[in-house]
Amino acid sequence: MTGLRPEASGNPGKTRSAGNMQRQDPPQPSTIPPHRVALIGFMGAGKSTVGHHLASLLGWQFLDVDAVIVRNAGRSIADIFQSDGEQHFRILEHAALRRCLEGSQAVLALGGGAVELPANLKLLAASQGTQVIYLHAPLEVLIARCELAASQPDSARRPVFEDRAALAERYSRRVPLYEAAAHIKISAEDSPVAVARQILTLWSTTLEPAR
Ligand code: S3P
Repeated sequence: MTGLRPEASGNPGKTRSAGNMQRQDPPQPSTIPPHRVALIGFMGAGKSTVGHHLASLLGWQFLDVDAVIVRNAGRSIADIFQSDGEQHFRILEHAALRRCLEGSQAVLALGGGAVELPANLKLLAASQGTQVIYLHAPLEVLIARCELAASQPDSARRPVFEDRAALAERYSRRVPLYEAAAHIKISAEDSPVAVARQILTLWSTTLEPAR
């Protein structure tokens, strides 16, 4: 598989659009071909589902940071929030993210709040060969998706979504953080498989020779 040309990280700068895909300017040359993709964005953006599709299209492993937290803690995210609070959850999330970023040929899905911890932003920025992709959508779309998911019998509870009064404020606080952390911003309003394919299209239009 050829590599997606590494893009700049840090300042969002002016964005360029390709269809509903946008790339952050200016790109910075790097000698490290990407071998990891980190999907970021608010709850309901479809990070896990897109991540699954993208990983299988690439033949890479899929790592869901939330699932790693749950596995390591032996309890659900809702339980962790309830007994130990959000701050403790963020500590577990940081450890899980650090571990996931050690994986190669991996697509990672981060929880929606991971960008709120500066240490996580530092980890992402310092992670060589990691392409950070922000899946964005309007808050109303994301809320509708989370509501639909919550109505499914076996769906995992999202404590942050249940705190509806704080949702809009969280969204506004996080959007600039997603934008600053991402190399690429892509609309998440299409179906997850379509979004995964768009990421691959972007991949093939920014091809560098295979190394
Ligand atoms: C959170 C989002 C969740 C999960 C946790 C906290 C948040 O992940 O990490 O419930 O703060 O937005 P998803 O974005 O995958 O739902």
